[in-house]
Amino acid sequence: MVTKSIIAVIIFINFGELNFTKANDSFKVAYEWTHINFTWESLPRHSKTLKERTFKYIPDNVVPGGIKIYGNRIFVTLPKLREGVPVSLAYFWRNDSTKTNIPFIPYPTWEDNNKESCWNFQNVQSIEIDTKGLMWVLDGNRMKGHNNCSCKLYLLDLKNNGKKNHSYTFPDNICSKVGGFLNDIVIDETDGGYAYITEFSLTDPGLIVYSREKNRSWKLRDSTMFLNVDAPIYKIDGKNVPHIGNIDGIALSPKQSNSNDKVLFYTTLTGYNLYSISTKFLKNETLCNSNLWRKYIHYEGKKQGATDGMIIDEIGDLYYTLTSLNAIGKWNTNTVFNTSKIIYQNNKSMIWPDTFSFDNKNGDLYVISNHISSYLGDDVHLDPVDTKFKIWKHHTGRKSYICKGNNAKYNYLCNG
Ligand SMILES: *[C@@H]1O[C@H](CO)[C@@H](O)[C@H](O)[C@H]1NC(C)=O
Ligand SMILES: *[C@@H]1O[C@H](CO)[C@@H](O)[C@H](O)[C@H]1NC(C)=O
Ligand SMILES: *[C@@H]1O[C@H](CO)[C@@H](O)[C@H](O)[C@H]1NC(C)=O
Ligand SMILES: *[C@@H]1O[C@H](CO)[C@@H](O)[C@H](O)[C@H]1NC(C)=O
Ligand SMILES: *[C@@H]1O[C@H](CO)[C@@H](O)[C@H](O)[C@H]1NC(C)=O
Ligand SMILES: *[C@@H]1O[C@H](CO)[C@@H](O)[C@H](O)[C@H]1NC(C)=O
Ligand SMILES: *[C@@H]1O[C@H](CO)[C@@H](O)[C@H](O)[C@H]1NC(C)=O
Ligand SMILES: *[C@@H]1O[C@H](CO)[C@@H](O)[C@H](O)[C@H]1NC(C)=O
Ligand SMILES: *[C@@H]1O[C@H](CO)[C@@H](O)[C@H](O)[C@H]1NC(C)=O
Repeated sequence: MVTKSIIAVIIFINFGELNFTKANDSFKVAYEWTHINFTWESLPRHSKTLKERTFKYIPDNVVPGGIKIYGNRIFVTLPKLREGVPVSLAYFWRNDSTKTNIPFIPYPTWEDNNKESCWNFQNVQSIEIDTKGLMWVLDGNRMKGHNNCSCKLYLLDLKNNGKKNHSYTFPDNICSKVGGFLNDIVIDETDGGYAYITEFSLTDPGLIVYSREKNRSWKLRDSTMFLNVDAPIYKIDGKNVPHIGNIDGIALSPKQSNSNDKVLFYTTLTGYNLYSISTKFLKNETLCNSNLWRKYIHYEGKKQGATDGMIIDEIGDLYYTLTSLNAIGKWNTNTVFNTSKIIYQNNKSMIWPDTFSFDNKNGDLYVISNHISSYLGDDVHLDPVDTKFKIWKHHTGRKSYICKGNNAKYNYLCNG
């Protein structure tokens, strides 16, 4: 068994390196959609009126955002940027032979997506999955169509049909229920469990730290987290992308064997700068409530373009989307930033690369591209029959940052 897996790893590594030299075909489309549909037949029969009222569906307005892989399923978030998005968290099976227009299955159930109760999902932007098989769900996009529900973080037990394991309501001064926007999340399983979350809102952007053990959150605000007004303008689908992007992309380094300190990287959607800070400082609430923590912010360098999602693997390679270049960048975080490279670019079909996920079993990196900036304005001018959403696959032979240094007997995320 051991020998077999070592050989497998070596093959993966070689294959991965070979692929990088042929950057142009190293990312392949694994799944694609012209529009997102749902498994309506699973909606309970008695809910026909609910369907009209609560689960209103306008196919042209539904756009998938975050993706995360767990076993045979790919979980997808559906941020509600426009009306007619009936469900905010869903998944599809990977063992299906179909690769085109696979319908989404609401998760855990239709009822959990019934927005009439604040204890159901309102507007989920991002998810992350830990090694215990718990999915951390950020339901805190309150920028558009908010209905006065506080921003929330849920932990769902994927081993137990998505049963709620824990809920946390953010105080209004950390994420406002009118205009707050919890954008992206990484999980740190050291010291009782932490989540680091980017708060993207126009009014009070910042970095939120949540301690699972203390069940408390605190927020860090700094000018490096505000959009950079000098950033170059770029177009997507023929339209300028507005300068509205505060702190957004976030990535966490893998655990080092002798320490619980990790490095958190962040960037704004508008602007090219990449920054980092040690989690040693982020975990210290007293320090974060003073001004002193700011001196530990480290400027890493200027990226080739603007970035939405980022992710780090188990050896410290950072992958970052380049929305302004229809491309993916890669940087080994143990080196200086000027060694970073664009490893893939496709101006025709990788439009708005958004979020990454590792398939830890097979050592594949996935990224979704989704034209999302075209859903921000007053009308979606995309052709309904065009293929707008693609999930791309790139073999690296590596696992996610979260798989490193976790010796749990049952590691649900990393062992496939
Ligand atoms: C969505 O799927 C249902 C079947 O569940 C089908 O009747 C309907 O036409 C589909 N709608 C779109 C817009 O694809
Ligand atoms: C995929 O696997 C799941 C769970 O094992 C199963 O319920 C489903 O029917 C499978 N789908 C296909 C198309 O094989
Ligand atoms: C929103 O909720 C607060 C309590 O959290 C309440 O005081 C207020 O009236 C509500 N506003 C609306 C418009 O429902
Ligand atoms: C939450 O999940 C953890 C890890 O699987 C488990 O130990 C704990 O008992 C769960 N708690 C609840 C309330 O389900
Ligand atoms: C965690 O904090 C939330 C407040 O948002 C509270 O509702 C919940 O009961 C707390 N849970 C525990 C286990 O303390
Ligand atoms: C947290 O930071 C404060 C202020 O710098 C410091 O006095 C304290 O020792 C730190 N606590 C820990 C646990 O490192
Ligand atoms: C792709 O688009 C970017 C940004 O507009 C441009 O810099 C680059 O030259 C284009 N590449 C190709 C191969 O057209
Ligand atoms: C990258 O940065 C290092 C240290 O800052 C410097 O020594 C090196 O010359 C730079 N390399 C390039 C290609 O700019
Ligand atoms: C992809 O191929 C085109 C044309 O051969 C080339 O211009 C471009 O630089 C390549 N992209 C990357 C990222 O290597």
